[in-house]
Parts: sequence; C-alpha cells; structure tokens
Amino acid sequence: MAARPRSDGPLRVGVVGCGNVALNDHVPGHLALPDLFRLVAVADPTPERRELGRLRAGLGERDAHASAEELLARDDLDVVDVCTPQHLRREIVLAAIASGRHVLSEKPLATVPRDAAAMAAAAREAGVTLGVVHNYLFFQEVEAALRIIGSGELGPVEVAILNYLGVLDLPGAAAYRPAWRHDATQAGGGVLTDMLHIVYLAEALLGRPIERVSAWVDARTDGASVEDLAIVRFEAERAVALVNMGWGVGPGGIEVSGPRGRLAIRYRDGATGPFVPFESLVVHGPGGRREVPVATDWDAAFVALLADFGRAVLDGRDPIAPGEQGLHILEATLAAYASAALGQTVTLPLDPADPVHERGVGGLRELALPDWSPVRRHRLFGVGG
Ligand SMILES: NC(=O)c1ccc[n+]([C@@H]2O[C@H](COP(=O)([O-])OP(=O)(O)OC[C@H]3O[C@@H](n4cnc5c(N)ncnc54)[C@H](O)[C@@H]3O)[C@@H](O)[C@H]2O)c1
Repeated sequence: MAARPRSDGPLRVGVVGCGNVALNDHVPGHLALPDLFRLVAVADPTPERRELGRLRAGLGERDAHASAEELLARDDLDVVDVCTPQHLRREIVLAAIASGRHVLSEKPLATVPRDAAAMAAAAREAGVTLGVVHNYLFFQEVEAALRIIGSGELGPVEVAILNYLGVLDLPGAAAYRPAWRHDATQAGGGVLTDMLHIVYLAEALLGRPIERVSAWVDARTDGASVEDLAIVRFEAERAVALVNMGWGVGPGGIEVSGPRGRLAIRYRDGATGPFVPFESLVVHGPGGRREVPVATDWDAAFVALLADFGRAVLDGRDPIAPGEQGLHILEATLAAYASAALGQTVTLPLDPADPVHERGVGGLRELALPDWSPVRRHRLFGVGG
C-alpha cells in the first residue's frame, strides 16, 4: 500500500449514508480532526437524511448527492466513508475501490463473507486502504484492560466472559427503514450481528485469532426474522471466550482471567455498556485488589478510530481492522449461527464453498439441520419458511 505524502493536506472525505451513525459519530469525528480530514461531500437517497447530513457537515447543496455513484464521480475525493446498512455495502465499497479511493466501512463489513472477501482482495489489489469501524477497541476501559493483560499481570488469558444481555434495541433512522435491523435480508443477523463489536472484543481479550465457534441462538418473539439472544463460545488455541448477547434487560460487564489473576469491567448497576455508563475496572492480581481509574468518552474513542484510519492511509500501513479482519470477524459471527442451527462446533475459516460463506444467513437453509434446531423450529433467518 502506497503512503500518501503528508504535504498534500487533509484527506478529502465523502460520507455515503447519512443515518444515525454518520450524523452522531462519523461527521462530527471528521470535523474534530481537521489536520487529517476535510469533509467535501455526503450522499444519501433519502432526501430528509441527505439534508440533515449536509447541514451537519456544513456543506453546500451541490455537495449533497442522491447516490454513491454521483458522489464517486467527483474529482476531489481521497476517502469514501461508507455508513449505509451492511447489505448495501458490497457495490458501494467495490466501486469506491475501483475509483482509486481509500475506504472506511462501518461494521459489519458485509452480510456475506464472500462479499467481504471480495472487498478485502480488491483493496489489496488496488493498493488502497480498506478499514472497518471496530471502534470498541478504542474504548478507554478496553484499552486499559488490554494494557493490563499485555503486562502479564494475569498470566496468559484463559477465559473471557463478555455479558451483553442488556443491549438496547435502537431503531434506524425514521425517514429510512427504522426496522431494518430486524430483517435478516438487510441486517444479515440479529443482535449478535448488530453487536459484532463484542466478537472482535472477545478475540482482542484472548489475544489470539478465534478458531472454533459453538452457540445457541433463539428469538423470544414469535415470528421474528432474526435472533434476539445468542450465547456463544469462541475458542482460540487453549483460551475461550463466552459471549452472552441479547436485546433486553439482562446483565452486562466483562471478566477476564488467567492463572495469576482476573479483571472485571463493570457498567452502571451491572447493566450493559456502552448503553449505560462505565462504572469500574477492578484487578485482582498477585498484589491483591486494585481499582484502575479510567475516564471513558464515547466520542473520543470514535475520534481515535478515525484518526487511526487517517494515519494508516497517510503512512501506507494497515488500520486497526483492515478488510481481512472485517471478513474474519464476520465469519466468526456467522459461524455462531451455523453452529446453533446445526448443533455442532464450526471451525474457522469457513470453507469458501460453504453456503454460509457464499450467502450468509441465507445459506443456513441449505445445511442439514436437525429437527430440534432452534433456528429451524423458530424459522429464524428465513429457514424453514
Ligand atoms: N460502529 C458503531 O458503533 C455503529 C453504531 C451504529 C451503527 N453502526 C453501523 O452503521 C451502519 C448504519 O447504521 P445506522 O444506525 O446509521 O442506520 P440508519 O438506519 O440510521 O441509517 C441508514 C442510512 O443509510 C441510508 N441509505 C440507504 N440506502 C443507501 C444507499 N444506497 N446509499 C447511501 N445511503 C443509503 C439511509 O437513507 C439512512 O440515512 C450499520 O451497518 C450499522 O451496523 C455502527
């Protein structure tokens, strides 16, 4: 990947998709980093959102486009920041790469591993940077936990337990399709896909790539298209992470242990972060108990993610989560669905000929599912429908 000379000034950015995450996080984040980024355009086919995006970005009317195609036809763009729902990303990301632009993509990179693999390969071939928004890695309490683990205080991590059973079920932008997260064909999965942040967080805490996945998933609402509960085990060599994930009101928090000690991240009243504020990071190590002070700030963490991407482009290095990592984490997430559907442990990477690799959750119906499979019984992801 070629580095871009710093003397060229800030990277000129076009944001595609002016939904909640674009307006709450990406646009203000770019504006907070004037040395790295200059917002030059936005695109969204939904007029109301396009106008909100234009105003938030402080742009004139001719810089607000009705389509990604129109935005890509500009001659003043270095970076395309793709903030659409995930099922729309393949075409936009591949077109942006083909036009020679660097690309930042929201998570998950795609709904289908085959598409994510195509994007990662295209970026390498074109020599442009493709980064995926794995912003939870920049949460200050996560960074502090990773530093403690990295210091060896706990010994090698053996078990990580990540409780996210109180995830808020937030709707998408009202002017677009507020319920797209509950439609398997658009979201590519339910709460685990929406919160796949916790899959890459689990891997980061284990410090090794996820190799095997086993899971139980279910929907507590009859007729639901996607899961609202996922209990997943991710194995990496001899370490294991348990990710307990659900839309609802269940417990939250993270615990990590090794042979010499443990740490616990707690959010307010034992509920699920970042939907409630951070409360404490406590370490029980060889020296006894200590509380580690952490000042958390969602916006600063997001700005740090954007800054990492911008510097990666300028320096010609990979960002924290390049396309291949986006693909790997998507596969780990889909492996949980396949495991739950089959009642078996699923090994990574997925075989490129596997229907789930080729079609995401749409491929589950092609697997030999036992009668008792909750995915089949509850007709999740269109299976048995
Ligand atoms: N990293 C994070 O912490 C985080 C937080 C929220 C959402 N997200 C991700 O961001 C993405 C968007 O989520 P959201 O909550 O902003 O959704 P949203 O429903 O609020 O907004 C989606 C936007 O995309 C626009 N859109 C639809 N089709 C388009 C197209 N072809 N071209 C351009 N724009 C198009 C819609 O008009 C709408 O404005 C999702 O992939 C989601 O997983 C990430």
